[in-house]
Amino acid sequence: AEKSRASGYEGTAGGAAGPARLPSLGLVPTMGALHAGHAGLAQAAVEHNDVVIASIFVNALQFGDPADLDRYPRTFEADMALLEAAGVDLVFAPSALEMYPGGEPLVRVAAGRLGQKYEGASRPGHFDGALTVVAKLLHVCQPAVGNYRAYFGQKDAQQLVLVRQMANDLNFPVEIVAVPTVRSAEGLALSSRNRFLSITERDASLVLSRALRLLRDRADQHIPLDPESVLEMIKSQPITQLDYLEIVDPQTLEPRAENCRETPFTGEALALVAARVGPVRLIDSMPLGY
Ligand code: PAJ
Repeated sequence: AEKSRASGYEGTAGGAAGPARLPSLGLVPTMGALHAGHAGLAQAAVEHNDVVIASIFVNALQFGDPADLDRYPRTFEADMALLEAAGVDLVFAPSALEMYPGGEPLVRVAAGRLGQKYEGASRPGHFDGALTVVAKLLHVCQPAVGNYRAYFGQKDAQQLVLVRQMANDLNFPVEIVAVPTVRSAEGLALSSRNRFLSITERDASLVLSRALRLLRDRADQHIPLDPESVLEMIKSQPITQLDYLEIVDPQTLEPRAENCRETPFTGEALALVAARVGPVRLIDSMPLGY
């Protein structure tokens, strides 16, 4: 495509090689305590862009429970080493005062109806706080010229949908790029909070990814997803206290009742799961039928 376009531009900047290609910047927003999931985002950004910025900021605005904020792991030195190894050019790690000089902002992004379901139902205000800081980070890091991309993990599927919706609804000049979930060898979706799980809790939590894989396999075979049987499987693991398991439309996040129970699965959907395991709330998700 580059080549065929180049011939039409002969004589312009870039000469025989075609027009000067616009530089691109990739942004990877994080809250630190980085692991291989974040590294996957950074690597995707490094692969696609000339310059990559990662941000590290534990955003108080998106935590409902002050205890959760206090104990959120902070591993700055190790984070810097991981980002450097991934090839990230710049790290933006502002203080709370730099991000919110006047204290909590008066004006915020409202996540709306989509922000009140699933994670939003258990964590009121969480998505307003997350979108507000993502909006700020996108503005602060925006390049003066060239292409702009920002990278988000599929693990936090609802967050990804909401960030996309914000960028579309509010005309943010950025391409939102989704990156697949990175898992442990046993299947557990990597998360900064996994370090709080005991060995028994970690084992118990594997039922979540096993449940999602089962749904994905049924979707691939175009047979009924039969979510009830999957619910039973999760409930049989008493340490894992299920909050929700939903099969939803990947864009609207509306529950997809049809095609799931008795009729063969068709099309595309997203399975969302959340559970409390010991001291930790875990979320995971799986694209179905892709
Ligand atoms: P944080 O939990 O640090 O996650 C930063 C990014 O890494 C998010 O886009 C998240 O989806 C992605 N991520 C986390 N675990 C992953 C995994 N196992 N595989 C792939 N990607 C993974 O999400 C946030 O921070 C915050 O809400 C933030 C967007 C930075 C706003 O404060």
